[in-house]
Parts: sequence; structure tokens; C-alpha cells
Amino acid sequence: MEIIAPATMTRMNFNQIHFVHKTTIFLPADGILETQAWNLDSRSERDYQKKKGKKATPRPLILGSGAMRVSMALLMVFWALVSLEGVISHGVQPLSRIAIHKTVFAIDDHAFIKASPSVLGIKEQNKEWVTLEYSTPRPSNDDWIGVFSPANFSSSTCLPENPRVGPPFLCTAPIKYQYANYTSRKYKDTGKGSLKLQLINQRSDFSFGLFSGGVSNPKLVALSNAVAFANPNAPVYPRLAQGKMWNEMTVTWTSGYDISEAEPFVEWGSKGEEQKRSPAVTLTFDRKSMCGAPARTVGWRDPGFIHTGFMKELWPNSVYTYKLGHKLFNGTYIWTQAYQFKASPYPGQNSLQRVVIFGDMGKDEYDGSNEYNNFQRGSLNTTKQLINDLKNIDIVFHIGDICYANGYVSQWDQFTSQIEPIASSVPYMIASGNHERDWPGTGSFYGNMDSGGECGVLAETMFYVPAENRAKFWYSTDYGMFRFCIADTEHDWREGTEQYNFIDHCLASVDRQKQPWLIFLAHRVLGYSSNDFYAHEGSFAEPMGRDLQKLWQKYKVDIAMYGHVHSYERTCPVYQNICTNKEKFFYKGSLNGTIHVVAGGGGASLSEFTTIQPNWSISRDFDYGFVKLTAFDHSNLLFEYKKSRDGKVYDSFRISRDYRDILACTVDSCPSMTLAS
Ligand SMILES: [Fe+2]
Repeated sequence: MEIIAPATMTRMNFNQIHFVHKTTIFLPADGILETQAWNLDSRSERDYQKKKGKKATPRPLILGSGAMRVSMALLMVFWALVSLEGVISHGVQPLSRIAIHKTVFAIDDHAFIKASPSVLGIKEQNKEWVTLEYSTPRPSNDDWIGVFSPANFSSSTCLPENPRVGPPFLCTAPIKYQYANYTSRKYKDTGKGSLKLQLINQRSDFSFGLFSGGVSNPKLVALSNAVAFANPNAPVYPRLAQGKMWNEMTVTWTSGYDISEAEPFVEWGSKGEEQKRSPAVTLTFDRKSMCGAPARTVGWRDPGFIHTGFMKELWPNSVYTYKLGHKLFNGTYIWTQAYQFKASPYPGQNSLQRVVIFGDMGKDEYDGSNEYNNFQRGSLNTTKQLINDLKNIDIVFHIGDICYANGYVSQWDQFTSQIEPIASSVPYMIASGNHERDWPGTGSFYGNMDSGGECGVLAETMFYVPAENRAKFWYSTDYGMFRFCIADTEHDWREGTEQYNFIDHCLASVDRQKQPWLIFLAHRVLGYSSNDFYAHEGSFAEPMGRDLQKLWQKYKVDIAMYGHVHSYERTCPVYQNICTNKEKFFYKGSLNGTIHVVAGGGGASLSEFTTIQPNWSISRDFDYGFVKLTAFDHSNLLFEYKKSRDGKVYDSFRISRDYRDILACTVDSCPSMTLAS
């Protein structure tokens, strides 16, 4: 049987119909796709706008004859690849380059692909390597292997986005892919190869397809047996987050158990003491909750159930242990391993407090597979450094652009798996970025398509944040001597808005004698950046970002930190473009302004600076890295920028001051005085 795909492809949303042309993919000898490093969110948004609007007419599939009966749905997968272009906001996206219009379904009786072991996780692990053995009589260096989950996926559940789009309706995108010669250098000569891929427990089984013809002319030649984890429903990937009270820790995890099958709970208590159980709440969402393609079409994958347990009335700085459990209605218990964390200090408490902050980390695959965001080589380095230094980290802030799933829901599982060692041990607080939230006509401040149709649902469900309303992703949280005010740049922040009022209140309501270190966090750069895109804009920040300037100054914010720009930059203490302090490394007394920091080099491809270095820009680094703040006491703060490649400090400064230095008045920073005595 041969199936010829439509000559031209469209995205499922008619309003965003998008012609995918044949493109050339450049393959080095080893078959590994090279990617460019020049991308940045803002530029790619601009590029996308240029491409938007090209239309094509869908044509139905033409079916040929053949002997093999393999699910037609596999072919539909290729449609998934189409919708990547434009949605992925980083110029080079390997899967988006597949010439879908040439795809044929050509099972070869002499070709095969076998996966082993067929049962994964028999020791209850949620991550395991699978070995693939494959052979084809007509090998080529551009043959590749796609991973699909569920293994027996079907196109039957797909719904049209609107009545103007004809069948077939796409269902399932691959969750990752790799070239057949990746670790088999003689594959081209022998037609035989093997490959190791790492799979994580994602609530479903997996199958593997061997494709010839490269990505520009793909043909499915063999489909593997299915492999599955012993318990695909097992609770996995706990992520801690601060609760709404300082003495409350939340833990969110994913499982395949609905509350109709089992009761979720967290068993927890002081380390070494009696443990108690607290019920967990359960959330999920369906395809209809997505705002557009690919999240609503080919990128959709059942997210399972997301549970959150609340551990309350914790003793400050005490160590607690916890396990996640599900009690099945037949009386059986399903458990995770035991984890532990240190409870947060009381607001104002004087103790050593260490905070890591970065943005735009994204995800990457340990097996080197070419999947959706394989430009994010820095991501694993950042993750590794944080894990290595975990005993010296108390809380983490990932300030937006979390995993760049961009509407491919499977990627969120893979991200939560990647950060599990971190997020299961320290609070992992997130902010919302363009890649979580933005979608036209959905209330996002920016009308681009960077969320791939997720429109915030994934971020708002997969992670807990102590926001009053998680769909409005702004919140405050205290950690000892720190007060963090986290803004949501994907919603309007300007004066008169609900968010502006929140920021005002968050900054105003902190007692600086108790919590001297006031930190403002947001995804996009609202303050200062000499990134080349912002320089071209002429604003050296998001346009309108500095509407918040008077709040930062009035409330004497120490540091404002951002992601979105994939690099590192630090300013002097600055107000209205003017450095308010000439010191660069050791600030004593009043800052008189706010230090603005871009820490968006968590892992996604790097962003270039403009050739101009403004006076306020005193340190820049075109590399992957993250920031660490250490409060030693109420008077001494250490700021460090570390590179992800080696974990070493490449920029730092100190602030040393007393309470009266915070009270000190400078331009626009003090309330008016009366002459009365
Ligand atoms: Fe961003």
C-alpha cells in the first residue's frame, strides 16, 4: 500500500494556514543536524510575522495498494511536522523541514526495527534506555527513526479545527527522533544499525518507526514492536513550590490515576519522625482547553492527571521527608520513592539563604536525539550544574520560557523529568513567558503564536505557583530576608491595570527592616538590555517596560531580573538611564537605583548583543549561565553569575548596607515630608 500525502500542507487552524515549502536540510557526515545559535525570542517573533499569512489548499490523501496493514495514522504524523514551522519561534527546527508533500507510506517486508526491552521500569524506575536494532535493504545516511507514544495511536480521535479544513485530521506527533546512523557509522554500507534512546514514563507505551528518504522525502519502511513501562500510571516527577503561606510547601506531580481510580495523597513529616498523610487535589485538561494548533491538533497528547499536595505549618528551616502515594480502590497502594526538602525560613529570619534565578532553560535529551528543540544544548549543562550544587541552593526561580514545548504536550513530561532532581528537593518557582502563554485573541498582551496553542494551560497546571489566579501569573513569595515580586509580562503591566496594582502592593507591603532584599522578577526585559533586538527597537527593553520604573525607584527595588534574552547582562544601579552609583563590584550604602539583570541564558539558543554598550551596561556574557543570590544576613548580599559549562563564577558583586541606607532618600524615592513638627 502506498499513501501519497497531499501536495501541499496546511495547518489545522484555517486562520493560520501556513504553506510549507520544500526545504533543504544540511546533514553532516554523522547525520546529526546542526543548528544555529543566533536565535532569540524577539527576532524569531519578527521572522514569524513575515511568514504568516501564506495559504495553501488542502487535497485529500491518494491511497494506493499494498499488502501491509499498518495504521494509517502513522502517516498523519507527518502533518504534525508541518505545523512546527512558524510555531517554533526559533529559526531552525529540524522537524519543520520535512517535505511532507513527498511523504509515502512504504512498508518494506525486508526491513525491520526491533525495540528491547519490551518492559521498562521493572525496578520501578521512570527512566530507561531502550535499544533499537534495525535493518533495511536500501539504507541511506538520511534514514531516521521517529518515536511515537502511544504506540498504537490513531487518527480517529482528531477533530477538525473548523469546517473549512478537510480530512485527514492529524493526531499524533512523534515525541522525539534520531538519525539511523547516529551511532552506527557503517549503516549506509550494511543497512544494519542500532541505537539507544532514553524513554521516560509518560503514561503510555511507545513504538518506533524507521524512515528512509530523509526528512525531505520520507518513507515509512518499518514499524517496531511496542514497549511500555511496567506501571505507566505511576506517580512521577514531583516538583515543590512555595505555598501561599511562608510555612507551606506544595508538591505537584503527574500520574495516570484519575480520582475515580485512586486517592492521591502525600505522606510527609519531619525527617526521622512519624509521617502523616495529606490529601492531594487533582487537575487535568483536555484538547478543547488548548487554543490552537499544534497543541489542539498534532501536538496534543493526554497530559494524565496533575496532583498537588499541601504540606502546612512547617517549622522554619526544618528538614522534611515526603512520598507520593495513590490508594487504589482495591486497597493497593502505589508509592514513589522518598524525597526530602528543607522548609522555608520565616520572613525576616536571619539565616544563610541561597537563591538561583534563570530564564529560558528549555529541555534537552540525554540521548542526543534530534527532537523539537535540539538547539538547547545549554539546558542539560544548566541542569547538571544545579544538581551538582543542590546542597548549596535553597530555592530556584525559572523565570519563563520553561520547556519550549510550543504546543507539543509530550515535552512537558520530558521537562519535568529533566528537572526532577532539582524540583523534588527545593522549591522550583516559575514565571510565565511568551512560550507558555502567547496566542492571538486569547488575552495575552502579545499577539504572537509562541505558545503553540497552549495559551498558558500547561504552565498553569503542571506547576503550582501561589498566585491568586494562576491564569494571571503574577504572585509574591517570601524567602527569609528576600521578598520576590514576580510579574507576568504576557499580560499588561501598565499603570491602571490589575497587574500594576499587584506589583505596587507587592513592593509596598514588605517590611525592609525584616526583609531587606527586594527582588523583582519577570520574563521579558522590562528594565534594561543591550540585546540587538531591543537596540533596534530603540527602547533597550520591552517597549513600555519602564512604565514600572517609578515603582522600582519608589520602593527601592534592589535587583530586577529578567529572561527572554538568551544571554547575561548586568547594569549599574540605574534610574532613568542614569547610573546612580559609580561602583561596580562592592556597593556600600544606598544604591539610589535598581540593578537590572538579564539572566536568560538558561539553555535556549543564545541572543546577540548590539555593538553599542550603553553606559549602564557594566557586564555582558554571550553564553549559557544562571544567577545565584546569597543573603548572609540583613546587611550582606552576594550576587554571582555562573556559566553553565563549568559552574564557575564569571561576574559578581556585593551589597553591604544597613537598614538606614534603605530608608535613605534619593530622587523620586521618598514620600513627601511635612514641615510640621
Ligand atoms: Fe521569551
